[in-house]
Parts: sequence; structure tokens; C-alpha cells
Amino acid sequence: SQNIYILGIESSCDDTAASVIHNGKILSNVIANQKIHEAYGGVVPELASRAHQQNIVPVVDQALKQAGITKEDLHAIAFTRGPGLMGSLLVGTSFAKSLAYGLNIPLIDVNHMQAHILAHFIDEDGFEKPPFPFLGMTISGGHTQIVKVDNYFDMDVIGETIDDAIGEAYDKSGKILGLGYPAGPEIDKRAQLGNPKAFKFTKPKVDGLNFSFSGLKTAILYFIQKEIKSNPNFISEHLNDICASIQYTIIGIVIDKLKLAAKQTGIKHIAIGGGVSANSGIRNALKEGENKFGWTTYVPKFEFTTDNAAMIAIVGYLKYLEGNFAKQDVTASARLKI
Ligand code: KG4
Ligand code: ZN
Repeated sequence: SQNIYILGIESSCDDTAASVIHNGKILSNVIANQKIHEAYGGVVPELASRAHQQNIVPVVDQALKQAGITKEDLHAIAFTRGPGLMGSLLVGTSFAKSLAYGLNIPLIDVNHMQAHILAHFIDEDGFEKPPFPFLGMTISGGHTQIVKVDNYFDMDVIGETIDDAIGEAYDKSGKILGLGYPAGPEIDKRAQLGNPKAFKFTKPKVDGLNFSFSGLKTAILYFIQKEIKSNPNFISEHLNDICASIQYTIIGIVIDKLKLAAKQTGIKHIAIGGGVSANSGIRNALKEGENKFGWTTYVPKFEFTTDNAAMIAIVGYLKYLEGNFAKQDVTASARLKI
């Protein structure tokens, strides 16, 4: 049988990542997080591309070392072509092209949003792969999408955010509350200690399967400003309840849309990914959906849900098997669609 080694490279946002996949199994999954953005409360594109340039060679080196191979063992180089920040994408794209050229092996371009979904096809003990067709939902600081997946490379976006991503709803709410960046994990932790019905935030009215989160952030801002007028300590006295109420509202939005998507498509297999899929409330609500609506839900291993290169490597492997390679003049594409 085949014995294929592929290097995956991811540099679309603020994480520089490299991974080696052997057939369907991940041998290494290395990420250099860029701490520098924390001080700014968000990703600064110019700083991100500089950090990628600094990190990419050591990260790739480490991925090869941890996999116990050398670059001469590789059969192909897979890289994120888009979507993402142009300056960031250019670093990974140029590096991948040069390496494939130098080694004289195929180059494989990968769509980052497809990769978030195809991460479910990494061979990992204890994790089941979703059967086709299924609904993929990618929720993170940069993405909010529901995708109908008929086959590995036959996907349609059936719903997405028209403004902020779901993770931004968490992070921007956290900023209003004076929490650190990114605020999602802390809001999640506090939500579990608070009363989800303490305060009511109205859900945005968006037709069909699209999402909107910018209104929620504004509603929270006005609510806090109003409460602070009569009680300057309102936030600190009610922080857990505020977090629980925000989380309750966001979960409601997500589950409403999934219910509608399942109804419209007749598909009950739901696979989620992206950093926000770590959220305890969303995970519980999905489990509830299994009992209430007959869903089967799939969540990959945590390290394959946030931005990572293992998901790029698995797409590289799937495309390699099809002989689907990029040309040497391929260019990065900041707005690449699924
Ligand atoms: O996938 P990711 O690591 O990076 C990208 O955005 O691409 O996702 C990060 C986002 C941040 O917005 C963070 O606040 C959110 O995921 N997040 C969470 C949780 N863990 C991370 N949001 C809610 N609950 C969590 N437990
Ligand atoms: Zn991502």
C-alpha cells in the first residue's frame, strides 16, 4: 500500500503552523502562537506577517523533526492559499512554493475553510468521521459558516455571518466587560457559574441561515452603560450572570440556525470546528440536540479545531490521492471562497 508523507503549512491569520501527515495520520502538529497581538486586543496584520516570516523556518523544522523524517522524505507540500490576511498568506505561500520547487515535488493549494471541515477526516483514535452528506459548522474568531458537505470537495456554504464572527461577539463583549483578549474562554468559564436568564438580550433577526452578531455587541454595550449609571459596580457584582446571559443568547442563535439548516436539508449529521467549538454551552446544546432532534454530532480533537496545519495536511493528502496539484504560479487569495 501507499506510504505518503505530506507537509502542511498554515499562515492565514496569526498562527504559524506546520504539520506532517503520514497517510491519514498526523505525526506532528506544531504551532507558533503570536502573543504580540494580545496587547492590541486583536490581530494586527502587519505584525502578523512579520512574525510569520520569523517563525516559519523553525516551525517547519520542528514539524519534520517531531515526525522523525527529513524534507527529502516528503511527497508533497500543502499550504493555505486563502482566505485570510494577504500579508500572512504570502509568507506561507512563498515558502511552500520555494520548498516544493527545491525538492522537485508537487505543490498543493488548500482552502482554509474547507480544511476546517475536512479536519474531521484525520485518523484519530476515539474520533468518528462524519458520513456524507453532513452539515459542517465552522465557528471561530474569524469565521461563522454552515456548509453542506456532499463529498470532500463538493461543499456549499448555506449560511454565514453578514457582519462579525461568533468569536468576535465573545471577544468584543469581553472587551466591554473589561476582560482580557481573547475573552471567549473566560466568558465560557464564568457562564457556567451564572444564571443564563438573569438578563435578556434580543436575538438578531436575520432571515434564512445567515448570522449577525454586531447588534448583540451593541445591545450589551448599551445595557452595561445604562446599568452602570445607577450602579458603578454593576459589572463586578453581576459578571457571572452577565456572561451566562450573553452565552445563553449566543447558543440560542447557533442552535436556531442549526435546527433550520437540518430542517431545510434533511441532514442530521452535524460536524463542528473552529475555536468556539470548545465552548461548553454549545457542546451541551449539541448533545441535547442528539436527544431532542435526532442529530449525530461530531467534534474533532481540540488541537484540530483551532487554526492548525494538521487540517491543511489532511486536505493535502486527500488532494494528493486525486492527483490534484497546484501550478508553480499559484497566488495567495485573501477572499478565496469554498
Ligand atoms: O479558531 P481560533 O483559535 O482562531 C481563529 O479565530 O481563527 O478561535 C479563536 C476564537 C476567539 O474568538 C476566542 O474567544 C474563541 O475562539 N473561543 C471561545 C472559547 N474558546 C475559544 N469562545 C467561546 N467559548 C470558548 N470556550
Ligand atoms: Zn480558521
